[in-house]
Amino acid sequence: MTELVQLARDNGVAIITINNPPVNALSPGVPGGISEALDQIAQDDGIKAVVLIGSGRTFVAGADIKEFGKMTSGNARGAGLLPLLLKIEDSGKPVVVAIHGTAFGGGLELAIAGHYRVAVSTAQVGQPEVKLGLIPGAGGTQRLPRLAGVAKAVEMCMSGNPATAEEALRFGIIDRIVEGDLLTGAVAFAREVAGKPAPKTRERNEKLGNAADNAMIISSAREAAAKKQRGLLAPVAAISAVEAATKLPFEEGCKTEQKLFLDCLFSEQSKSLIHVFFSEREVAKIPDVPKDTPVLPINSAAVVGAGTMGGGIAMVLANVGIPVLLKEVDQTALDRGLATIRLNYANSVRRGRFSQQSAEERLKLITPTLTYDDFPNVDLVIEAVFEGMALKKEVFKELDRVCKLGAILASNTSTLSIDEIASSTSRPAFVIGTHFFSPANVMRLLEIVRGQATSRKVIATCMQLSKKLGKVGVLVGNCRGFVGNRMFGPYRREAQFLVEEGAGIVAVDQALSDFGMAMGPLATGDLAGLDVGWRIRKEYSYLQEPGIRQPFVEDRLCELGRYGQKTGAGWYKYDEQRQATADPIVDELVRKWVAEAGIVQRQISAAEIVDRCLYALVNEGARILEEGFALRASDIDVIYLNGYGSPTYRGGPMWYADTVGIRKVYERVSEFHRQQGEIWQPAPLLKRLAEEGKTFAEFSNEEGAAA
Ligand code: NAI
Repeated sequence: MTELVQLARDNGVAIITINNPPVNALSPGVPGGISEALDQIAQDDGIKAVVLIGSGRTFVAGADIKEFGKMTSGNARGAGLLPLLLKIEDSGKPVVVAIHGTAFGGGLELAIAGHYRVAVSTAQVGQPEVKLGLIPGAGGTQRLPRLAGVAKAVEMCMSGNPATAEEALRFGIIDRIVEGDLLTGAVAFAREVAGKPAPKTRERNEKLGNAADNAMIISSAREAAAKKQRGLLAPVAAISAVEAATKLPFEEGCKTEQKLFLDCLFSEQSKSLIHVFFSEREVAKIPDVPKDTPVLPINSAAVVGAGTMGGGIAMVLANVGIPVLLKEVDQTALDRGLATIRLNYANSVRRGRFSQQSAEERLKLITPTLTYDDFPNVDLVIEAVFEGMALKKEVFKELDRVCKLGAILASNTSTLSIDEIASSTSRPAFVIGTHFFSPANVMRLLEIVRGQATSRKVIATCMQLSKKLGKVGVLVGNCRGFVGNRMFGPYRREAQFLVEEGAGIVAVDQALSDFGMAMGPLATGDLAGLDVGWRIRKEYSYLQEPGIRQPFVEDRLCELGRYGQKTGAGWYKYDEQRQATADPIVDELVRKWVAEAGIVQRQISAAEIVDRCLYALVNEGARILEEGFALRASDIDVIYLNGYGSPTYRGGPMWYADTVGIRKVYERVSEFHRQQGEIWQPAPLLKRLAEEGKTFAEFSNEEGAAA
């Protein structure tokens, strides 16, 4: 036996302990060790039953995700595990699996091959493979429906969401919840079942239901997947695998599962989703802000401005128990802000997200105020007043005067320089950008903007706080628009150019929605308000270089008062429920304006729409990366996945470029450069990587440290 698996005996009960910290992954050596232990147990007449348990903080929490990348059809995990699972099931002595922490993925597949399962009440079980673009590959889709029923198994395998111990008990996935010590409880259970015939999961067909019901379950699952998991292959494969369990004998079902598993394993989607998994962990690593950097305590906070963003940010803080002052300029604005917060909380209660009592507790943590009187006590202030440098500087000057030394002064600005804002204080080391996305209480992304002087302690504190708030914090440098919005500019610019050149408005949005974006770029503009960009363009018009093409149709729409959803019309027209429909008037106006401007329209393919918009993102992303405003390409991906509706299964724009091939992307960008002029100048980094045959993933600008 290996060090990874230990065998002990307790009065007729064998205890197999998996000991592969930190999560008892089924790495090479573990299945072999369990198998050897079973061989010894089979020889030992003194043993009547077996307990299989994990040491440390969890049972088997899943596969080692790094291993997936190395798998080939010959060494795929599932196929390797299947014989062990059959061996467990065929053991003449009942095997009781004892679960604490999580039994996920291969962990649950192992557990359900046992004859019985007991768990502590805090345990969770699940088949989260779909989240990595995979399906269970070691019989999970065949055994789970035999324990939990077809509907529950389909739901678990297609969503990847875990079940609690209580739920698992209700559905028959586990047999008992153990109070007190798990091993003691499991051994006691093993004694109860010792000597009795052990039920093999693969032979328990009674929960497999009937053909008519199953057809309903499967078809409604497929419908739900098409809607809620649009474009994803793995949920569809998971449904088909469970369907096979209802139609085929166990061995045949396993073969179907294996085939579907391998299809998923070798898909681009799975590689992309695994990239996303690692990228979201990598994002927390900042080369010059090591893990052990001391952090400042954040026990209280204040938000300045109770508008769209300020109100949401106050809720985010209150949601994790941080008391927060909410300051406004006058009672009317304050009342309006609080009314919105109340309405949002009431909606959450109505949707069953939390209880009325919990909503009231959160609300109590938000203290409205019209003065800075209580600000000297707070550890963190987040400013979310109107976007204007003079006003921001005035607010920060005041914050500098009233706040205690050591308090973090953060701005939610989306375009202004953190350094300039910091210059209005005597403590630029404590000034930072915390750029939330709208709606702040929903969107996961938080861009943490590092100024020239921002201290490491302050960065470390904000990164840690982002986690506490349930956000993905990404450190970015202080450039205009930071990372996300700076890239979004060229992306939306191309969408507008395409309309001017002859692509239909719906066609542009449809092409990007088919690519997987949560929303097309023109509809997104309508949602955010077309006037925002229009005002910025007017303010910064002096920065525009003469002779460089600028889109103009959107500004003309604004001149007509078509600001988007809020005015009932923008690129589209909107009804009371803010449902969009195409507006032929806009098509006509566009044709007229474009003809006046002397632009000759042409047919434009969906492929060109996608290339123009996506490569505009990528080209700007390459600049940001080289200039050091993002630490790594994967950080940019995380920003686009969590803040801009990029499809996870494409891994984010930079990863997408890597999958297309940097050389190809560079050639296409060069082609656009020839056709469209300077605006498409290829980023030097894109050119260099193309010449060197490298990928963005291989390029790291950790030296830049987003400074
Ligand atoms: P908003 O117009 O909804 O709210 C701003 C609020 O600040 C108003 O209620 C105003 O009365 C209040 N205010 C102004 N001066 C004040 C002062 N001295 N003290 C206290 N309150 C004051 O604006 P919104 O959309 O919430 O934007 C706030 C900031 O967040 C801006 O910097 C904006 O660029 C940024 N942002 C906005 C996003 C959005 O989607 N709306 C997204 C991300 C960032």
